[in-house]
Amino acid sequence: MPELKKTEMYFPTLLWRFELAPAIRDSVNKRLMSFLTRLDPNLLDLAPGSSRQTDPNLHMIAEMEPMVAEIRQAVKQVLQFLDIAYERSRITGCWANVNAAQTSHREHIHPNNYLSGVYYVQADDGANNFTIDDPRPQRHMIKPRVVESTPFNAARFTMSVKPGDMLLFPAWLPHSVDPNRSSRVRVSVSFNAMFENFTETMSPPEWSGTLKTATLPQRGGS
Ligand SMILES: [Fe+2]
Repeated sequence: MPELKKTEMYFPTLLWRFELAPAIRDSVNKRLMSFLTRLDPNLLDLAPGSSRQTDPNLHMIAEMEPMVAEIRQAVKQVLQFLDIAYERSRITGCWANVNAAQTSHREHIHPNNYLSGVYYVQADDGANNFTIDDPRPQRHMIKPRVVESTPFNAARFTMSVKPGDMLLFPAWLPHSVDPNRSSRVRVSVSFNAMFENFTETMSPPEWSGTLKTATLPQRGGS
């Protein structure tokens, strides 16, 4: 029998799981719930099957700064993990989702961003799931039975989450949320992050040609 020396991994689909420190989690969650109930006093008593979403500008609201600071730090850690050479990243959208019993969120991606994420504020048992799908359609072609579903054999993976958890993932990763099977609303905050000044700092080619033009008069701009 040949000896398996090593299982190598190329082009992995990564998901980063963060957890807010308990004291920060409690204060961030309390502040967000208070903010949401001021927007709509009946928000926590939404009828089954109903859902609400704030405008996607929570990152610009002063009151939300402690939460957004945590998000920014998580984004920074992911970009460091990936060894991305960038100058600055920016939160491009951040919004709260309130989902009553029975509501789900169909599969989607977050176009025009590099990273996306979600932070959990209230997610009781039955409302504490997050599902990702392998973006390669070929992976859904043959689905042999498995002894146990693992990140190595699954084309779809559902994970459990809890309040205080923050997940970050590539914005191209298809994800969805199963119906809320708990009695309380599920409250989460979604966000996107992108590189600031992308066209100026990251789009230009990184190579130089053999026919030199750099010394010719430049017109600048685009
Ligand atoms: Fe999403």
